[in-house]
Amino acid sequence: MSGKIVTIAQQKGGSGKTTIAAHLAVAWARRRGRTVAILDIDPQGSLGEWLEARERRLGEDATGLGFRTASGWGSRHEANALARDYDYVLIDTPPKAEQDARVAMDVCDLIVVPVQPTPVDLWATKATLKVAAGEDTPAILVVNRMPSRARLTGEMIEALREFGPATASARLGNRVSYAASIGRGSTVIEDVPRSRAAEEIDALAEELLACLRA
Ligand SMILES: Nc1ncnc2c1ncn2[C@@H]1O[C@H](COP(=O)(O)OP(=O)(O)O)[C@@H](O)[C@H]1O
Ligand SMILES: [Mg+2]
Repeated sequence: MSGKIVTIAQQKGGSGKTTIAAHLAVAWARRRGRTVAILDIDPQGSLGEWLEARERRLGEDATGLGFRTASGWGSRHEANALARDYDYVLIDTPPKAEQDARVAMDVCDLIVVPVQPTPVDLWATKATLKVAAGEDTPAILVVNRMPSRARLTGEMIEALREFGPATASARLGNRVSYAASIGRGSTVIEDVPRSRAAEEIDALAEELLACLRA
């Protein structure tokens, strides 16, 4: 049986793709005992840096995650190969590399699109979803960096309803702990397990697993 492939895609840089990929990987692997591999197809290699920091902290064999990089058409082959060995494969994609992202959106079972609740992010999301629709793969929007109170956010979330794909009910707040943990090669689940941030990730990880089972 083949594992499930999840692609994190959003043409807008800085939307939280890498942050969410790292957190979901650890959430699924640590909390639920699944085997998880990360496939980084972003030439910037942020997730690779995160993993290196993780190896320095935990030891090379103790990260609990598989890791590969690929580009272009190689992504499809690599993703399918990983799916034979792991329960879940998470693909982190570059912004703006439409062709590479397209391959990743085609090969996967679910596309996760992080969206910050700002007008500019909404425009980029439309473009990302257009590619996703072309590949005929189900997509789900994840609101990231929710400010604690802002009228704009409510309006944005309302606007997302018209986009087609559902918006995950689990949302991630704008919290320094996410950035701090990533910098240490860690996650909020490990660093601040009883925080709101850890709860948010847990809820998102659970909701996406349910999507994959459906
Ligand atoms: N929920 C969040 N709260 C606070 N900072 C965040 C959050 N998500 C992402 N960030 C920060 O935003 C920046 C961009 O995130 P990143 O995951 O690298 O985006 P992308 O991979 O889409 O370019 C990083 O500095 C990251 O630490
Ligand atoms: Mg990134």
